[in-house]
Amino acid sequence: MPAIKVIGISSSPRRDGNTEILLREALAAARASGAGVEYVALREKRIAPCVECNHCYRTGVCRVEDDFQQVFRGMIETDRLVFATPVFFMTVCAHAKAMIDRCQCLWSRKYVLKQPLFPTGGRDRRALVIAVGGSRSRKMFDCVRLTMKYYLDVLDMKCAANLFVNRADERGAVLRHPSAMAEAARLGRELADPDIPPPAETSEVELYSE
Ligand SMILES: Cc1cc2nc3c(=O)[nH]c(=O)nc-3n(C[C@H](O)[C@H](O)[C@H](O)COP(=O)(O)O)c2cc1C
Repeated sequence: MPAIKVIGISSSPRRDGNTEILLREALAAARASGAGVEYVALREKRIAPCVECNHCYRTGVCRVEDDFQQVFRGMIETDRLVFATPVFFMTVCAHAKAMIDRCQCLWSRKYVLKQPLFPTGGRDRRALVIAVGGSRSRKMFDCVRLTMKYYLDVLDMKCAANLFVNRADERGAVLRHPSAMAEAARLGRELADPDIPPPAETSEVELYSE
């Protein structure tokens, strides 16, 4: 059986920040389980915001040409996605939002053009969402959860788990968290395990501290 493909998308503008540390931990565990892993840092890509030209409503394709097409291809081909974002103003950060909005071409394919992403039948595609915020707020993951739910819907992916960690502000704070690193590794391992059946519902791992 070919190895499960996992793509990890880091959307944080901060290199070696908390988002990236947890993402790398999840990907390392997936790799150790035999998965083929690819890592993408969106801050190193040139991905413009959606310009709402509505070209994709007729064609299903985004006509703005930049690094989006390359990242997008990887996300279509993959079996598993780990999408990691810091919380900025109570939602996903700008790099993440640009990538998400450019996938409006998938929304168009699915809901306007009625063209299934995988015409030969659904694939077992799953995702893990990682989000990190600096404050104590309990509401700060609400928008992330909702945005990612609808984003994964157009990607034809089931959300296997959300890993949300609060009060991790300075670079590297998650390394001192009592359980965040272990949870990232566990969820990365489970995401890559071919013997685990597709999730009936999303596993919510919310590591709040006061
Ligand atoms: C522009 C900006 C907005 C932020 N907004 C929030 C917020 O709404 N809630 C929160 O808890 N933390 C907020 N933070 C803090 C970050 O979520 C926190 O520092 C996080 O660790 C950043 O992830 P990183 O280490 O991967 O860069 C914000 C930080 C920045 C730079």
